[in-house]
Amino acid sequence: MANSPQALINKQDEDLVRDFHHVWHPCTQMKDHAEVPPLLIDRAEGVYLYDREGNRYMDVIASWWVNLFGHNHPRINQAIKDQLDKMAHVMFAGVTHQPAIDLAEKLVTSSSPDLSKVFFSDNGSTAVEVALKMSLQYWLQTGKPQKTKFIYLKGGYHGETLGALSVCGLSLFREKFETVLPQNLEVEGPDCLRCPFGLKRESCNAECFVPMEQALEKDHESVAGVILEPLVQGAAGMNMYPPVYLKKLEEACKATDVHVIYDEVAVGFGRTGSLFVSQYHELNPTFVCLSKGITSGYLPLAATLTTDEIYQAFYDDYESFKLFIHSHSYSANPLACAAANATLDLLTEAGFMESLKPKIKAMHEQGKTLRDLPWCGEFRQTGMIAAVELVQDRETLAPFPVAQRVGYRIFLEGLKREVYLRPLGNVAYFIPPLVIEPGQIETMMNAAQDSIIAVLKGN
Ligand SMILES: Cc1ncc(COP(=O)(O)O)c(C=O)c1O
Repeated sequence: MANSPQALINKQDEDLVRDFHHVWHPCTQMKDHAEVPPLLIDRAEGVYLYDREGNRYMDVIASWWVNLFGHNHPRINQAIKDQLDKMAHVMFAGVTHQPAIDLAEKLVTSSSPDLSKVFFSDNGSTAVEVALKMSLQYWLQTGKPQKTKFIYLKGGYHGETLGALSVCGLSLFREKFETVLPQNLEVEGPDCLRCPFGLKRESCNAECFVPMEQALEKDHESVAGVILEPLVQGAAGMNMYPPVYLKKLEEACKATDVHVIYDEVAVGFGRTGSLFVSQYHELNPTFVCLSKGITSGYLPLAATLTTDEIYQAFYDDYESFKLFIHSHSYSANPLACAAANATLDLLTEAGFMESLKPKIKAMHEQGKTLRDLPWCGEFRQTGMIAAVELVQDRETLAPFPVAQRVGYRIFLEGLKREVYLRPLGNVAYFIPPLVIEPGQIETMMNAAQDSIIAVLKGN
């Protein structure tokens, strides 16, 4: 019975056995669950998840980076309940509704000045698919049909549907599907920890922009757009780089007639300490992709924002058939839009962004516990996102081999300390709900430190 979850999960809930028999979890080697079952989470409150025995776990990665205001927030709950009493769902072609109208206006008001149109979909990958397809169709309809490729950064991540994968710069996600992916162009992106120029991200002038500049010069006639995650490449291990890279990108794309697509799926909605990276840094993208925090982790929703110039290329009489051919059954779901409206109201309330400053400071100060670890290659932070990259050797920055499963073992140690950490390889990171308190930040960092020591002592 070596493979029987019943034997291995011993004394666990029968429901976990049923889970093992029928449920296939995302991004998970299911065999792991024969030994260690998933947490059976029963309820959640504020920054904590609770299992049936009442054990609690601090959700320091905000349930895959979506939760902003904590679980079970009274105002978001109420907004959804109010909307539920009116209408749960209606299709979004030929129909509109108040929650979507309000949300579109809120998004446009709080984003970069040139973004005036909002196309709704239902997850981060679809927000990206929409931007890619809109860009392609724009060029097709404005006399440049040869612009069919996208430039993306090594280390970039934009979701796992095939279109989004075709602009993914992480081989882990794309290698099994390589043969069917559209051929786009990968360029070397910023790598500030191992900067080839020996510079620091705080003071450099994005000297690493050269490969992008060269790619744009060489290939701009066939390039529709450049897509990247502004300031933080999340899935790459919270790889952080300075805004000057984005300024250079916008200049170069303007000069070469190439769209700029910022994927703010992970960094939008306050994560970096400002509402949106593009708005705060006065950037002027052609498209911005949003999801994750948009409903504060309540319901699936996404939005792709773009300019009137793009919109106008699709606006025509019927004979030309220029409409944007793309739809999802749950586009702009009213319950999700109601949750998003409540989320944006909370985010834009007087003083909320200001209230993040002491927390950002606390994350920096408490990060000392991690900076002092003998395996700390770097502790990095952008606003409310922080990460520690663990290395075997601080001088050479040699990583721990994948086979050591450092991240997974830290995750297991974290659970013993009531903290739900889910490192990306050798990078333990923190994207807590924005409402986390300074005292909880201290607990989070201490628990991470203890978990890391438990795994790596003796290395
Ligand atoms: C930057 C970025 N873009 C897109 C996605 C895909 O979002 P989803 O998982 O909702 O499809 C993610 C998910 O982690 C992301 O981090």
